[in-house]
Amino acid sequence: MSANMVALAYLGAAVLFILALKGLSNPESARRGNLFGMIGMALASAVTLNMAGVHNYAWIFAAVAVGAGIGTLIARKIPMTHMPQLVAAMHSLVGLAAVLIATSALYNPEAYGIAITGGGLHLSSRIEMFLGTFIGAITFTASIVAFTKLQGLVSGRPLVFAGQHWLNLLLGIAMIAAGVMFCITEGWAPFLVMTGIALVLGVLLIVPIGGADMPVVVSMLNSYSGWAAAGIGFTLENNMLIIAGALVGSSGAILSYIMCKAMNRSLINVLLGGFGGAGASASSGADRAAEDRPVKAGAAEDAAFLLKNAESVIVVPGYGMAVARAQHALKEVVNVLISAGVKVRFAIHPVAGRMPGHMNVLLAEADVPYDIVQEMDEINPEFADADVALVIGANDVTNPAAKSDPNSPIYGMPVLDVGRARHVIFIKRSLSPGYAGIDNDLFYMDKTMMLFSDAKKACEQLLQALD
Ligand code: TAP
Repeated sequence: MSANMVALAYLGAAVLFILALKGLSNPESARRGNLFGMIGMALASAVTLNMAGVHNYAWIFAAVAVGAGIGTLIARKIPMTHMPQLVAAMHSLVGLAAVLIATSALYNPEAYGIAITGGGLHLSSRIEMFLGTFIGAITFTASIVAFTKLQGLVSGRPLVFAGQHWLNLLLGIAMIAAGVMFCITEGWAPFLVMTGIALVLGVLLIVPIGGADMPVVVSMLNSYSGWAAAGIGFTLENNMLIIAGALVGSSGAILSYIMCKAMNRSLINVLLGGFGGAGASASSGADRAAEDRPVKAGAAEDAAFLLKNAESVIVVPGYGMAVARAQHALKEVVNVLISAGVKVRFAIHPVAGRMPGHMNVLLAEADVPYDIVQEMDEINPEFADADVALVIGANDVTNPAAKSDPNSPIYGMPVLDVGRARHVIFIKRSLSPGYAGIDNDLFYMDKTMMLFSDAKKACEQLLQALD
């Protein structure tokens, strides 16, 4: 394939990737976005396989078959609620790939078509290898730690010790010094030292980050993996890898910024860690409160009565709806209410559930029309006029402590103003706290009715009661 044809095909693939990102920014166009991404990736892969210098097809196709087989199996089995740890695991592979490619390119630069002058690599190639390797190594181990935390293999609580930030700073300086040595000498020793320190740094950077901040970390790692790929793209002089890596790197960085904004936290604050550790002590406080304070519990019939007689209902879905897979049953309840003339809308908090867009995906899966699904800023002023706020499996995203209690671990996070509705119905199994491990004062309000049940079962009972 001529260089011009390759450049043209890569340009086409790059445009398809950009269209994919644009499509994925809205639930309505997300499927189309995915399709663009798949076509772009197929085009880029086909062109790369046809480039001069690519051989060993048997090995390549065997690896693709094994990877595709494992990927298909995982994609079919993984529950939606385990998506964040799957994404973290995927990022670790991108990081590892970046380190392995840089190492083998250093070992045998000619095999990668990397220019050699005067018996050595160009300074620019060494700098690119240095950048790609250290970002890749940090991404690799950081993603593994994120995976083990999210999967519950180790505690999600932040591990903080004295002098932690100084140690990280020292290691960071040592890593850069070794990288500079590598760029000057092209020696294996500084290269391996730099890689080793980066692997350790990856672990140390993630251990102090608490469970509540893990979503931001996963999206930051997404960004790192993109920059690592872009770095390796420079080493291999492959424009497609540079463009795709830069797209992943920048979109991950933008997503991290959006999520931090939704939680009212600064990125630096998240990355320095420590947040989320209050969960354990707060949850024991929650247990005490749950024992002491009375709540009004109701049956599905009582909730159905309130809903049926309402003019306006706002549904607030959360993590419990995802766990119970209650979205389809909930959609049927909403259908009945809408056909009875009730105005129903869904209120979506940006960090409801366990991954960005979690609720949007589930509601789209249940064919909930997009025009009744509203984002937090848009719906919050509407709660004051709503007759019923129906909270299904959500907790932290409604918790008024985020506004009123400066000691709360979620203080400062914008929340849905559920308490301003005339009546509040909470569907959950108990008074247990949510992800942040803190009690929710809304459970104890006079106007709140607790419907203690699994979310799906509750929706089925509501449906019966409404009929
Ligand atoms: P949470 O605050 O975690 O509350 C979920 C509630 O669902 C729990 O209180 C639980 O109470 C209930 N529940 C669990 N299983 C249920 C079932 N089968 N049926 C009915 N209820 C069930 O959820 P949220 O309000 O969606 O808030 C999300 C939290 O996760 C925030 O703190 C956020 O920062 C954090 N987080 C978000 C993300 C992203 S990006 N979305 C990622 C990681 C963490 P019971 O046990 O009493 O039923």
